[in-house]
Amino acid sequence: MLESKACKNHKISQIFSQKEIAERLEVLGKEISKDFMELENPVVIGVMKGAFCFMADLVRNISVNDPLQIEFVRLSSYGSATESSGKIQTPYLELPNISRRNILVIEDIVDSGRTARFFMDYLTEQFHPRTLKMACFLDKPSRRAVDYQPDYTGFSIEDLFVVGYGLDYAENYRELPYLGELSLPD
Ligand code: IMP
Ligand code: MG
Repeated sequence: MLESKACKNHKISQIFSQKEIAERLEVLGKEISKDFMELENPVVIGVMKGAFCFMADLVRNISVNDPLQIEFVRLSSYGSATESSGKIQTPYLELPNISRRNILVIEDIVDSGRTARFFMDYLTEQFHPRTLKMACFLDKPSRRAVDYQPDYTGFSIEDLFVVGYGLDYAENYRELPYLGELSLPD
């Protein structure tokens, strides 16, 4: 069923259903499991808040030899508008000593690429990881402002503003179980 929702003068039209997302994550989880299977003590770092749904579902589709260590950071670049501010804020960047570990970063969406670039460079400088990869739920390649290519992508999308499944508009709609395009009134 094609879901849609309207509140606060916002219209949300479904792009990917809960079922489509679940099916894609099974495939993605297998791909990541294959690459991380033999790696020692992998660490998975979720970038909050947007990645919370994707991360929770993705790790349950990953099966590797060693148990996963789960960590979180909180980064933000959007403010509450639909255009990136370009400045990365780091409200929570506390990590234990994960020097030379095998790291998988989990992001909601790579848009301009600035947040991803910043965080991957930060991890490289701080911890010299043995492996450093990123899985993003969504990629908007047409919006790229800096050179960055995620290692694993759930879905590539056009230049649309999307909400649901963790992604927000001004802190709203993260709880929607599907991904939808948000249309604002003119
Ligand atoms: P970047 O640094 O420009 O790549 O922006 C990444 C961040 O912007 C993401 O982690 C999201 O929080 C936010 N973002 C980018 N596009 C969207 C969107 O379509 N909907 C909701 N948030 C978005
Ligand atoms: Mg956001």
